[in-house]
Amino acid sequence: MCESHQEGHEHDHHHGPELANNARPEDFRVVVTGKGGVGKTSLTALLARSLARQSWRVLALDADPQMNLPYALGLPTERARALVPLSENADYVEEKTGARPGQGWGLFFRLNPDVDDVVERFGVVAPDTVRLLVMGNTVQPAAGCLCPENALLAAVVNAIALRQDEAILMDTQAGFEHFGRALARGFRHAVVVTDTTFNGLQVALHAARLASELDIGGIHLVINSVREAADFERTLERLQAAGDFPFDSIHSLPYDESLRRCEPSIAPLIEDPTCTIAGPLEALIGTLTRHRTDEAGMAAGQGSVRRPSTLQVYEKTEETVSCVS
Ligand SMILES: Nc1ncnc2c1ncn2[C@@H]1O[C@H](COP(=O)(O)OP(=O)(O)OP(=O)(O)O)[C@@H](O)[C@H]1O
Ligand SMILES: [Mg+2]
Repeated sequence: MCESHQEGHEHDHHHGPELANNARPEDFRVVVTGKGGVGKTSLTALLARSLARQSWRVLALDADPQMNLPYALGLPTERARALVPLSENADYVEEKTGARPGQGWGLFFRLNPDVDDVVERFGVVAPDTVRLLVMGNTVQPAAGCLCPENALLAAVVNAIALRQDEAILMDTQAGFEHFGRALARGFRHAVVVTDTTFNGLQVALHAARLASELDIGGIHLVINSVREAADFERTLERLQAAGDFPFDSIHSLPYDESLRRCEPSIAPLIEDPTCTIAGPLEALIGTLTRHRTDEAGMAAGQGSVRRPSTLQVYEKTEETVSCVS
């Protein structure tokens, strides 16, 4: 059963003390990356709405030109379809840079426009009061393209990097362009999503290395759509075999048929605290906010894995992968 959901009402709220702990709100900037089709958009939406329900102010950035995040967040279809991405908002590009998209060549335009107003003007309020900003095509068509829309997007990224007291989650396109263009610069965490395939993990390892080159402090692996313990274990073994272990924590999310059934929206899962994803999602949020739920009930022990649906959180220690909760 997949219902459409009401949009939330916007109101000013702040991160709740129960999650604040030792995490400073300005640390909470998460870029979600990984191979195509592994669940990046679904996870970004799940994180965004869960955090919003825990009283965080949430800004969700859609940096994938496919623009799936509005649907995943549960924005009504007709509203999602009507959204114009920032890069194609010719009037705004012109207002801020002095030139319209496509007019950049040979014209003068402002390279560092003031875009402090961008979220207030173009942010859409999605359910659970998540603010959504659809960026559009953030990947340069050619190296060194100095067109007005790229100048605008670069300025927007900088403006967003200065925002405080907000959880900022960015969904990206498959591939690594967001690292190359430094779109992800200034992010505190990278959540690298993989499925249980060899290729998924290779992409994840590469993404993790690029994230560490950008000095992203927390790099977390989420092994998604795990159907059975054997798949999860195989992925862990491959990870160990890869030698250098670039992740600060490893999480798994079970395959959940209801996600598939209700796509593109994740709303029904958010509203069902008994769904299989709820516990693992909470554990991931706990890691991101540096909040440890020790009562989670997972026996400590090296690489111990029970069922794929059990809560599994691995934290990097000196030399090994060990299970901490
Ligand atoms: N844990 C899961 N269980 C079941 N289905 C899932 C799970 N995670 C994601 N899916 C499904 O997998 C499909 C792809 O998910 P999603 O669009 O989130 O991936 P993506 O990485 O953003 O893809 P793209 O690279 O195209 O942007 C969707 O149909 C989604 O519902
Ligand atoms: Mg996606």
